[in-house]
Amino acid sequence: SQTARKDESGVLHVGGIAIPDLVADVNTPAYVLDEADFRARAAAFRDGFAGYDVYYAGKAFLSVAVAKWVAEEGLCLDVCSNGELTVALRAGVDPARIGYHGNNKTPMELRRAVVAGVGRIVVDSFHEIERVAAITAELGVTQGVMIRVTAGVEAHTHEFIATAHEDQKFGFSISAGSAFEAAKAVVAAPGLDLRGLHSHIGSQIFDTSGWEVAARRVLALHARVAEELGHVMPELDLGGGFGIAYTTQDDPADPADLAERITKIVAGECAALQIAQPHLSIEPGRAIVGPAMCTVYTVGTVKTVALDGGASRTYVSVDGGMSDNIRPALYDADYSCTLASRSSTAAPVLARVVGKHCESGDIVVKDEFLPGDIAPGDLIAVPGTGAYGRSMASNYNHALRPPVVAVRDGAARVVVRRETEDDLLATDMGADA
Ligand code: LLP
Repeated sequence: SQTARKDESGVLHVGGIAIPDLVADVNTPAYVLDEADFRARAAAFRDGFAGYDVYYAGKAFLSVAVAKWVAEEGLCLDVCSNGELTVALRAGVDPARIGYHGNNKTPMELRRAVVAGVGRIVVDSFHEIERVAAITAELGVTQGVMIRVTAGVEAHTHEFIATAHEDQKFGFSISAGSAFEAAKAVVAAPGLDLRGLHSHIGSQIFDTSGWEVAARRVLALHARVAEELGHVMPELDLGGGFGIAYTTQDDPADPADLAERITKIVAGECAALQIAQPHLSIEPGRAIVGPAMCTVYTVGTVKTVALDGGASRTYVSVDGGMSDNIRPALYDADYSCTLASRSSTAAPVLARVVGKHCESGDIVVKDEFLPGDIAPGDLIAVPGTGAYGRSMASNYNHALRPPVVAVRDGAARVVVRRETEDDLLATDMGADA
């Protein structure tokens, strides 16, 4: 993160706080959230995508404090569950600035969202259109609705494939015509106000052409709805997915450059289609919170194993692992790490940082050169864990999920506390159950 630096004795400081001092207070493992960095990235999207609405995707990481920062920075909020909506409302986020996603929102969730007055519900099936229509009829209200469409572009890390990929659970297909049918159904429902189309092409994407291809296809449908249904949708959302650097090989674009490219395509396409340009929005999650957090662990054990061909690998076990970051095990995700508590002049060794869970896929950092004198008690920081780290954390092996500690200008505040044994046992009905 932007305020991270090492002092002359090799101690890592974030937000003006020395990591060993922080650990003395909150213990490890802990997520350290650089508030200034988070706000700066939110502001970079807000300003880079000037004229757009930027919805922070809460699934990447959400807490009441973070939802409040998001609102303070002038961003809207994307939620995708009742739990996320609860956090957003608790933070006092204006419901009109909340978008609600998901391919199978329950009737209870939909009702709660309508009653709360969320600005947009992104509908994903005909069943859901019927359900929201019924709820609005019963309550005598009007609900803003976006239609999640499949643009036929599914982008994954570093690449996208601009055909097929319709075979997944999200959205209405543009090419197969169900997206147009969905628009018809929403326009026909008296309580539904069709605000626009919504496309999300994937996550951790670097190549802007994915959004460009999607924008062209979505705008063609946008124009068709105007022409054939006489309904001009005021908005258009192009989703999130902006990639971040996990290792030095990744090279993310600047939000302003991204915005310029996407806006140009949209403007050109609208001119060609002779339609008014809809108000645009995007939904970055990872690119705002990912780089803003690191995870700090304590080294517990070190062992060296021989590899074929005479080489060796040093296994450094830390006090967390796949329960606080499932991404290496789930996606083969790469991270880096650094010794955070001291300097060392020892020659570097090829190390694999692993967790304390009961399986060999429990990897924290696959390959990293660490000082050869790495030892129990050393602190290790893994940068870039803000997105989908805490939010996908689990209690595997009855691990206690770590706290999130916000640091800023030399002050630290726990924004999510560490779980306790009582938290773990709170749902266990006990021996007499
Ligand atoms: N909007 C929609 C509709 C989404 O489904 C997502 C992410 C986003 C926005 C935000 O995408 P972002 O800007 O954060 O890439 N657990 C995976 C990522 C799953 C993303 C799901 N949808 C991971 O850890 O890589």
